[in-house]
Amino acid sequence: MAELIGQISTSHVPAIGGAIARKLQQDPYWKPFFDGFPPLREWLDQARPDIALFVYNDHGLNFFLDKMPTFAIGAAPSYLSADEGWGIPTIEPVKGDPALSWEIIEGVIADEFDPTTCQEMLIDHAVTIPLQLLWPDRPPPVRIVPISINTVQHPLASAARCLKFGQAIGRAVARSESDARVVVISTGGLSHQLDGERAGFINPEFDAMCLDAMVEDPARIARYSNHQIVELSGTQGLEILNWVVGRGILGGSARELYRNYHIPISNTASAVQLLERVAG
Ligand code: DHB
Ligand code: FE
Repeated sequence: MAELIGQISTSHVPAIGGAIARKLQQDPYWKPFFDGFPPLREWLDQARPDIALFVYNDHGLNFFLDKMPTFAIGAAPSYLSADEGWGIPTIEPVKGDPALSWEIIEGVIADEFDPTTCQEMLIDHAVTIPLQLLWPDRPPPVRIVPISINTVQHPLASAARCLKFGQAIGRAVARSESDARVVVISTGGLSHQLDGERAGFINPEFDAMCLDAMVEDPARIARYSNHQIVELSGTQGLEILNWVVGRGILGGSARELYRNYHIPISNTASAVQLLERVAG
Protein backbone atom coordinates (compact mmCIF):
# COMPACT_ATOMS: atom_id res chain seq x y z
CA MET A 1 0.00 0.00 0.00
CA ALA A 2 1.41 3.36 -1.03
CA GLU A 3 1.30 5.97 1.71
CA LEU A 4 -0.09 9.49 1.19
CA ILE A 5 1.98 11.74 3.43
CA GLY A 6 0.91 15.28 2.65
CA GLN A 7 -0.16 17.96 0.24
CA ILE A 8 1.78 20.97 -0.94
CA SER A 9 -0.24 23.57 -2.81
CA THR A 10 1.32 26.50 -4.61
CA SER A 11 0.63 29.18 -7.22
CA HIS A 12 2.40 28.65 -10.56
CA VAL A 13 2.85 32.10 -12.16
CA PRO A 14 5.25 31.91 -15.19
CA ALA A 15 7.08 35.11 -14.14
CA ILE A 16 8.50 33.07 -11.21
CA GLY A 17 10.47 31.06 -13.80
CA GLY A 18 11.95 34.32 -15.10
CA ALA A 19 12.83 35.41 -11.56
CA ILE A 20 14.57 32.06 -10.89
CA ALA A 21 16.53 32.34 -14.16
CA ARG A 22 17.65 35.87 -13.23
CA LYS A 23 18.36 34.89 -9.57
CA LEU A 24 15.98 37.54 -8.17
CA GLN A 25 15.09 35.58 -5.00
CA GLN A 26 16.39 38.42 -2.76
CA ASP A 27 14.90 41.23 -4.85
CA PRO A 28 12.35 43.22 -2.75
CA TYR A 29 9.48 42.38 -5.14
CA TRP A 30 10.22 38.64 -5.08
CA LYS A 31 11.60 38.00 -1.59
CA PRO A 32 8.23 37.71 0.23
CA PHE A 33 7.20 35.07 -2.30
CA PHE A 34 10.41 33.02 -2.37
CA ASP A 35 10.61 33.16 1.46
CA GLY A 36 7.56 30.87 1.44
CA PHE A 37 9.57 27.90 0.16
CA PRO A 38 12.37 26.98 2.65
CA PRO A 39 9.83 25.51 5.15
CA LEU A 40 8.43 23.29 2.39
CA ARG A 41 11.91 22.14 1.38
CA GLU A 42 12.78 21.29 4.99
CA TRP A 43 9.61 19.22 5.31
CA LEU A 44 10.33 17.43 1.99
CA ASP A 45 13.90 16.65 3.10
CA GLN A 46 12.50 14.94 6.21
CA ALA A 47 9.40 13.37 4.66
CA ARG A 48 11.36 11.95 1.67
CA PRO A 49 8.51 11.22 -0.77
CA ASP A 50 9.26 8.83 -3.64
CA ILE A 51 6.43 9.98 -5.91
CA ALA A 52 4.65 13.31 -6.41
CA LEU A 53 1.11 13.39 -7.81
CA PHE A 54 0.97 16.74 -9.64
CA VAL A 55 -2.55 18.16 -9.90
CA TYR A 56 -2.60 21.18 -12.22
CA ASN A 57 -4.21 22.64 -15.31
CA ASP A 58 -2.53 22.54 -18.70
CA HIS A 59 -2.32 26.03 -20.27
CA GLY A 60 -2.27 25.06 -23.97
CA LEU A 61 1.12 23.36 -24.25
CA ASN A 62 -0.22 19.81 -24.19
CA PHE A 63 -3.99 20.28 -24.71
CA PHE A 64 -5.38 23.14 -26.75
CA LEU A 65 -8.92 24.51 -26.80
CA ASP A 66 -9.96 22.23 -29.70
CA LYS A 67 -9.37 19.07 -27.63
CA MET A 68 -9.70 19.56 -23.90
CA PRO A 69 -10.10 16.58 -21.57
CA THR A 70 -11.93 17.33 -18.34
CA PHE A 71 -9.49 15.05 -16.47
CA ALA A 72 -6.27 13.61 -17.94
CA ILE A 73 -3.67 11.37 -16.30
CA GLY A 74 -0.11 10.83 -17.53
CA ALA A 75 1.23 7.28 -17.76
CA ALA A 76 4.63 7.95 -19.32
CA PRO A 77 8.11 6.88 -18.16
CA SER A 78 9.26 10.51 -18.45
CA TYR A 79 7.84 13.94 -19.20
CA LEU A 80 9.34 16.73 -21.30
CA SER A 81 8.74 20.45 -20.91
CA ALA A 82 8.79 22.83 -23.88
CA ASP A 83 8.73 26.51 -24.77
CA GLU A 84 5.28 27.96 -23.97
CA GLY A 85 6.11 31.44 -25.22
CA TRP A 86 6.63 33.02 -21.76
CA GLY A 87 10.39 33.18 -22.32
CA ILE A 88 11.15 30.94 -19.33
CA PRO A 89 13.71 28.12 -19.44
CA THR A 90 12.60 24.53 -19.97
CA ILE A 91 13.83 21.87 -17.53
CA GLU A 92 15.42 18.43 -17.92
CA PRO A 93 12.98 15.53 -18.52
CA VAL A 94 11.25 14.42 -15.32
CA LYS A 95 10.86 10.70 -14.47
CA GLY A 96 7.36 9.21 -14.34
CA ASP A 97 5.97 6.20 -12.53
CA PRO A 98 3.87 4.30 -15.10
CA ALA A 99 2.98 1.54 -12.61
CA LEU A 100 1.29 3.94 -10.17
CA SER A 101 -0.20 5.92 -13.08
CA TRP A 102 -1.97 2.79 -14.36
CA GLU A 103 -3.11 1.76 -10.88
CA ILE A 104 -4.68 5.21 -10.52
CA ILE A 105 -6.22 5.14 -14.01
CA GLU A 106 -7.68 1.66 -13.49
CA GLY A 107 -8.88 2.59 -10.00
CA VAL A 108 -10.71 5.77 -10.99
CA ILE A 109 -12.29 4.15 -14.05
CA ALA A 110 -13.56 1.32 -11.82
CA ASP A 111 -14.89 4.13 -9.60
CA GLU A 112 -16.93 5.58 -12.52
CA PHE A 113 -14.58 8.41 -13.60
CA ASP A 114 -13.38 8.48 -17.23
CA PRO A 115 -10.06 10.32 -17.56
CA THR A 116 -8.07 10.67 -20.77
CA THR A 117 -4.94 8.49 -20.51
CA CYS A 118 -1.72 10.00 -21.83
CA GLN A 119 1.27 7.82 -22.62
CA GLU A 120 3.02 10.96 -23.83
CA MET A 121 2.47 14.27 -22.08
CA LEU A 122 4.26 17.63 -22.13
CA ILE A 123 4.41 19.43 -18.78
CA ASP A 124 4.07 23.23 -18.64
CA HIS A 125 4.90 25.96 -16.10
CA ALA A 126 2.24 24.58 -13.75
CA VAL A 127 4.58 21.62 -13.11
CA THR A 128 8.06 22.89 -13.96
CA ILE A 129 7.98 26.00 -11.74
CA PRO A 130 6.83 24.19 -8.57
CA LEU A 131 9.53 21.54 -9.21
CA GLN A 132 12.17 24.29 -9.43
CA LEU A 133 10.83 26.03 -6.32
CA LEU A 134 10.73 22.86 -4.23
CA TRP A 135 14.04 21.35 -5.42
CA PRO A 136 16.15 24.28 -6.62
CA ASP A 137 19.38 23.58 -8.52
CA ARG A 138 18.96 19.80 -8.54
CA PRO A 139 16.96 17.16 -10.37
CA PRO A 140 13.74 16.43 -8.43
CA PRO A 141 14.30 13.31 -6.26
CA VAL A 142 10.75 12.12 -7.03
CA ARG A 143 8.98 10.40 -9.89
CA ILE A 144 5.82 12.20 -10.95
CA VAL A 145 2.27 11.36 -12.01
CA PRO A 146 0.74 14.37 -13.83
CA ILE A 147 -3.01 14.81 -13.34
CA SER A 148 -4.42 17.59 -15.48
CA ILE A 149 -7.76 19.22 -14.65
CA ASN A 150 -9.57 21.41 -17.16
CA THR A 151 -9.92 24.82 -15.48
CA VAL A 152 -9.78 26.67 -18.80
CA GLN A 153 -12.37 25.69 -21.41
CA HIS A 154 -16.00 25.64 -20.18
CA PRO A 155 -17.93 23.57 -19.25
CA LEU A 156 -15.69 22.49 -16.38
CA ALA A 157 -16.26 19.80 -13.78
CA SER A 158 -17.77 21.32 -10.63
CA ALA A 159 -15.72 21.72 -7.46
CA ALA A 160 -17.92 19.01 -5.89
CA ARG A 161 -17.08 16.64 -8.76
CA CYS A 162 -13.38 17.55 -8.46
CA LEU A 163 -13.41 16.68 -4.76
CA LYS A 164 -14.95 13.28 -5.56
CA PHE A 165 -12.42 12.70 -8.37
CA GLY A 166 -9.61 13.37 -5.90
CA GLN A 167 -11.15 10.97 -3.39
CA ALA A 168 -11.28 8.26 -6.08
CA ILE A 169 -7.58 8.84 -6.82
CA GLY A 170 -6.86 8.64 -3.09
CA ARG A 171 -8.62 5.25 -2.88
CA ALA A 172 -6.60 3.99 -5.88
CA VAL A 173 -3.35 5.08 -4.22
CA ALA A 174 -4.38 3.34 -1.00
CA ARG A 175 -4.94 0.11 -2.97
CA SER A 176 -1.60 0.36 -4.83
CA GLU A 177 0.83 -2.55 -4.63
CA SER A 178 3.73 -0.12 -4.35
CA ASP A 179 5.06 0.87 -0.93
CA ALA A 180 6.02 4.33 -2.16
CA ARG A 181 5.65 7.46 -0.05
CA VAL A 182 3.43 9.80 -2.04
CA VAL A 183 3.07 13.59 -1.79
CA VAL A 184 0.32 15.53 -3.56
CA ILE A 185 1.44 18.77 -5.22
CA SER A 186 -1.45 20.90 -6.41
CA THR A 187 -0.72 24.09 -8.31
CA GLY A 188 -2.48 27.25 -9.48
CA GLY A 189 -4.56 30.00 -7.90
CA LEU A 190 -5.35 31.64 -5.72
CA SER A 191 -7.60 34.48 -6.94
CA HIS A 192 -6.54 35.99 -10.27
CA GLN A 193 -7.88 37.16 -13.59
CA LEU A 194 -5.51 37.67 -16.50
CA ASP A 195 -7.68 39.49 -19.00
CA GLY A 196 -10.99 41.24 -19.62
CA GLU A 197 -12.52 44.12 -17.69
CA ARG A 198 -11.59 42.65 -14.31
CA ALA A 199 -7.94 41.88 -15.21
CA GLY A 200 -5.92 42.08 -11.99
CA PHE A 201 -8.91 41.13 -9.79
CA ILE A 202 -7.88 39.62 -6.44
CA ASN A 203 -10.07 38.67 -3.44
CA PRO A 204 -8.12 38.13 -0.19
CA GLU A 205 -11.27 37.25 1.80
CA PHE A 206 -12.25 34.43 -0.54
CA ASP A 207 -8.63 33.23 -0.65
CA ALA A 208 -8.50 33.12 3.17
CA MET A 209 -11.73 31.10 3.22
CA CYS A 210 -10.22 28.63 0.71
CA LEU A 211 -6.99 28.25 2.70
CA ASP A 212 -8.95 27.55 5.90
CA ALA A 213 -11.36 25.18 4.14
CA MET A 214 -8.47 23.21 2.66
CA VAL A 215 -7.45 22.34 6.21
CA GLU A 216 -10.77 21.82 7.96
CA ASP A 217 -13.49 21.15 5.44
CA PRO A 218 -12.77 21.14 1.68
CA ALA A 219 -16.49 20.49 1.08
CA ARG A 220 -16.98 24.19 1.92
CA ILE A 221 -15.23 25.09 -1.37
CA ALA A 222 -17.10 22.31 -3.17
CA ARG A 223 -20.42 24.04 -2.39
CA TYR A 224 -19.57 26.93 -4.77
CA SER A 225 -20.58 26.67 -8.43
CA ASN A 226 -17.92 27.46 -11.01
CA HIS A 227 -19.78 30.67 -11.92
CA GLN A 228 -19.66 31.74 -8.28
CA ILE A 229 -15.94 30.93 -8.14
CA VAL A 230 -15.30 33.09 -11.23
CA GLU A 231 -17.26 35.93 -9.66
CA LEU A 232 -15.48 35.66 -6.30
CA SER A 233 -12.00 34.65 -7.44
CA GLY A 234 -11.55 35.72 -11.10
CA THR A 235 -11.56 33.64 -14.27
CA GLN A 236 -8.22 31.99 -13.48
CA GLY A 237 -9.17 31.71 -9.81
CA LEU A 238 -10.85 28.52 -11.00
CA GLU A 239 -7.40 26.92 -10.62
CA ILE A 240 -8.54 26.34 -7.02
CA LEU A 241 -10.16 23.23 -8.55
CA ASN A 242 -6.65 21.74 -8.70
CA TRP A 243 -6.24 22.32 -4.96
CA VAL A 244 -9.65 20.73 -4.32
CA VAL A 245 -8.76 17.58 -6.33
CA GLY A 246 -5.48 17.41 -4.41
CA ARG A 247 -7.27 17.72 -1.06
CA GLY A 248 -9.64 14.94 -2.12
CA ILE A 249 -6.61 12.74 -2.83
CA LEU A 250 -5.12 13.44 0.60
CA GLY A 251 -8.49 12.63 2.21
CA GLY A 252 -9.35 12.38 5.90
CA SER A 253 -8.01 14.85 8.42
CA ALA A 254 -5.03 17.07 7.77
CA ARG A 255 -2.84 19.30 9.90
CA GLU A 256 -1.66 22.59 8.43
CA LEU A 257 2.08 22.92 8.96
CA TYR A 258 2.67 26.09 6.98
CA ARG A 259 1.07 28.73 4.78
CA ASN A 260 2.28 31.88 3.04
CA TYR A 261 0.06 34.39 1.24
CA HIS A 262 1.45 37.31 -0.70
CA ILE A 263 -0.21 39.73 -3.16
CA PRO A 264 0.42 40.24 -5.91
CA ILE A 265 2.89 38.21 -7.93
CA SER A 266 2.23 39.35 -11.49
CA ASN A 267 -1.62 39.32 -11.60
CA THR A 268 -2.01 36.63 -8.96
CA ALA A 269 -2.68 36.30 -5.25
CA SER A 270 0.15 33.87 -4.56
CA ALA A 271 -0.12 31.28 -1.85
CA VAL A 272 1.62 28.17 -0.58
CA GLN A 273 0.21 25.70 1.91
CA LEU A 274 1.58 22.53 3.46
CA LEU A 275 -0.82 19.96 4.88
CA GLU A 276 0.32 16.81 6.63
CA ARG A 277 -1.98 13.82 6.67
CA VAL A 278 -3.30 12.86 10.09
CA ALA A 279 -3.41 9.07 10.40
CA GLY A 280 -6.75 7.36 10.78
C1 DHB B 1 -0.26 34.22 -14.41
C2 DHB B 1 -0.89 33.32 -13.53
C3 DHB B 1 -1.15 32.01 -13.94
O1 DHB B 1 -1.79 31.09 -13.16
C4 DHB B 1 -0.77 31.58 -15.20
O2 DHB B 1 -0.98 30.28 -15.52
C5 DHB B 1 -0.17 32.47 -16.09
C6 DHB B 1 0.09 33.80 -15.69
C7 DHB B 1 0.05 35.63 -13.98
O3 DHB B 1 -0.41 36.10 -12.93
O4 DHB B 1 0.82 36.30 -14.71
FE1 FE C 1 -2.28 29.22 -14.35
